[in-house]
Amino acid sequence: MGAEVEKCGVELSGIAASETHGEESPYFAGWKAYDEDPYDAVKNPSGVIQMGLAENQVSLDLIEEYLGQHPEASNWGIGKSSLREIALFQDYNGLKTFRQALASFMEQIRGKRVKFDPNRIVLTAGATAANELLTFILADPGEALLVPTPYYPGFDRDLRWRTGVKIVPVHGTSKNNFRITVEALENAYFEAESTNIKIKGLLITNPLNPLGATIERSVLEDILRFVSHKNIHLISDEIYSGSAFSSSEFTSIAEIVEAHNYKDSERVHIVYSLSKDLGLPGFRVGTVYSYNDKVVTSARRMSSFSLVSSQTQLLLAAMLSDIEFTERYIRINRERLRKRYESFVEGLRWAGIECLDGNAGLFCWMNLRPLMEETTREGELELWDSILNEVKVNVSPGCSCHCSEFGWFRVCFANMSQEVLGVALRRMKEFMERRKRKAQLFV
Ligand SMILES: Cc1ncc(COP(=O)(O)O)c(C=O)c1O
Repeated sequence: MGAEVEKCGVELSGIAASETHGEESPYFAGWKAYDEDPYDAVKNPSGVIQMGLAENQVSLDLIEEYLGQHPEASNWGIGKSSLREIALFQDYNGLKTFRQALASFMEQIRGKRVKFDPNRIVLTAGATAANELLTFILADPGEALLVPTPYYPGFDRDLRWRTGVKIVPVHGTSKNNFRITVEALENAYFEAESTNIKIKGLLITNPLNPLGATIERSVLEDILRFVSHKNIHLISDEIYSGSAFSSSEFTSIAEIVEAHNYKDSERVHIVYSLSKDLGLPGFRVGTVYSYNDKVVTSARRMSSFSLVSSQTQLLLAAMLSDIEFTERYIRINRERLRKRYESFVEGLRWAGIECLDGNAGLFCWMNLRPLMEETTREGELELWDSILNEVKVNVSPGCSCHCSEFGWFRVCFANMSQEVLGVALRRMKEFMERRKRKAQLFV
């Protein structure tokens, strides 16, 4: 279909024809390689193992168990009235019962240290739509958002493509494990302004950044001071709040806002989604939570383009209102992720690979610089190509996350079974050994 459109001589809009969708990135090329030759222990044991997709599959059995025990949640009652409740027109406010259940789940997953008002919840089709929608509201075409690197490769599409807004990267350094600093924020801000790029906001991802690390409370305080001083917005993409390996390790920007008695809160907007916490990216459920009334009103209007189906809302309203289920789910999911992370890091060490210390999320940030003769973008892409085509494992090269240092790779550990993870680690160990032998030959 795509090829047919390209051959056709009729002109498309500037947006449709523009390259800012970011799909040329190795991040998406790796997905394609996996789709064309997916690993299967029996049918395709030499296929590609997908470690470039940030999915959480470790706790889906708990959701299956809930649905098995509560068939009423997914069949929305058999009577006529229930069908009418979901089949007929719904406005963009979303079901009140669902917004209440979602607000309470968002509080629970943040250790009940904050309050969320269901009236400030704007429903969207995932965090993808929420991030784009906020960008449309906060910036005009040609203006920019600061985004610390390394960042989620999808942001190139979500923040830039249809909005015409620019991303100004805030580069971190491995010297401090790529942690965000005010100095880096100031530098990026002034560099942009000196080239007449107007910065309208800063977007941080906490904790689902490629580093797999939460942002410390003191850094969040610094960040809030920075955006306030510059009079810009702050988007906190907290899509995977439940992934910190212990609840006390994660601080939501909502906690800082509450601690400051809501001073400056009108510039703070939280993005959240159930794609990762519940492992349900196919359900497409996200939210913009803003402390700014005008942003809430505009977001609600704009959400008309990306609503959540009422059938999905009803099912999740039932599931998330069941406190016994949510408490158990959050606890077990956290334990399983932590164990999975620990066993993966141990496996990487066994394979001879080091990664940065993480305490959340679904990724490790692997350091493969020892394998590179020249730490350049080309060298990194060459190595990525070998890992994809020789080792048959898809990981994401740091350059696809706009990392300023070459030789880092993002690798996901929760989108497969423990057995498949073992196969991937064995393949990587063999690759490391082959590379070492080759290097010795040239000494
Ligand atoms: C930081 C970040 N934001 C947003 C998204 C998109 O999530 P959703 O499936 O809710 O659209 C992802 C997905 O990987 C992500 O990593």
